[in-house]
Amino acid sequence: MATLKTKIYNIEFENPFLLASAPPTARIDSIDKAFKMGWGGAVLKTITPDNLEMIEASPRYAAWKANGKIYGFENIEMLSHLTVQEWLDGIAYLKANHPTKVIIASIMAPVIKEEWQKLVKTFNNSPIDAFELNFSCPHGMPEKGIGMAIGTHPEISANITTWVKEVSEKPVFVKLSPNVSNITEITQAVVNAKADGLSAINTVQSLMGVDLDTFEPQPNVNGTSTFGGYSGIAVKPIGLRCVAQVRQTTDLPILGIGGIANWHDAAEYISIGADVVQVCTEVMVNGYSIIKPMCKGLLTYLEDKGFDSPADLKNKAFIKLTAHKDLNKQRQYYPYINDETCLKCGKCVTICDEQEHSALSKENGHIDLDKTKCIGCSLCSLVCSQSAIKMR
Ligand SMILES: Cc1cc2nc3c(=O)[nH]c(=O)nc-3n(C[C@H](O)[C@H](O)[C@H](O)COP(=O)(O)O)c2cc1C
Repeated sequence: MATLKTKIYNIEFENPFLLASAPPTARIDSIDKAFKMGWGGAVLKTITPDNLEMIEASPRYAAWKANGKIYGFENIEMLSHLTVQEWLDGIAYLKANHPTKVIIASIMAPVIKEEWQKLVKTFNNSPIDAFELNFSCPHGMPEKGIGMAIGTHPEISANITTWVKEVSEKPVFVKLSPNVSNITEITQAVVNAKADGLSAINTVQSLMGVDLDTFEPQPNVNGTSTFGGYSGIAVKPIGLRCVAQVRQTTDLPILGIGGIANWHDAAEYISIGADVVQVCTEVMVNGYSIIKPMCKGLLTYLEDKGFDSPADLKNKAFIKLTAHKDLNKQRQYYPYINDETCLKCGKCVTICDEQEHSALSKENGHIDLDKTKCIGCSLCSLVCSQSAIKMR
């Protein structure tokens, strides 16, 4: 029998699914509800010193939707509106009622040693399991010299990690920004500063769109807008890439985040190097109840593969990543067209023709392949609306 239980240091997770720091973890009563519904843990909405101003814009969200489904989500939201004391009381309540759930305090403060250390010392005395340092919020905070303004500078990130580690009595995870040209540089800096683990990714800096009648960018806040943070299904490939690059840099625990919508996404993250995963946007748009099929699906998958726990799945795909120069380029794949499902619309023929190869042609109601011209790129199989073309 497989189990979903897993461990980071002495922190035991009953399942590897945590709520990421965001609106679903902004209130004590809602975290209470999420724990009752089966979430393994929660990273609290980022806590700051009480005197840090948090004025929200309205609206603060925008979305890329297609056929009624949200693929990409943008927010310009600030951090927690609860006071430090409200969090301390709330954490005590949550741990007393849910002793098996993991609670991670996400924190952020101005780049002042005393401010970071004061926050850490305050929460050392609470029953949290770990700290997550938010060095990666891409909006609002960088203007104050914090959030992503920290996480894009290896030296500042390393300094703060050192300050926190000096006083922390709990493991310290650093939450990384994808908005850097080289995530391994910042990873190495905080690893050298003795971080205990990495969380990746925070949101991807974005601009959702423009209303072409009024020329107002989205989200439209009384006629103007600002750059926001992109999340949801659309960012999964960026999150996977970042987690793999972090894994290439260190063996420390990784909390994988970004576009996880179901057990399958979570399994991909774990196979590429994550120890546990965090979920935000999918919970925001579909509710806490997604945890049930997530747990069931992952457990069934682990059992089908003969794995005992998520730890057995970890790094299984990571070890298959290599440099482009080391890819096996000897074998060529060719498109095989399923005559029964193919609509003979000819889109693949046109597309192939316009990419210079002209390997496909439509003859007598069939799509024919000229193997001498085909380069095996797979574009035809990707553009087919019927998925009638498979590469073999
Ligand atoms: C509305 C919203 C608010 C967020 N607030 C925070 C925050 O306070 N602290 C933080 O570290 N990350 C915050 N995030 C980022 C998420 O924790 C997560 O890293 C990101 O959304 C990617 O995961 P997802 O694709 O599952 O949403 C926020 C994300 C959203 C959408």
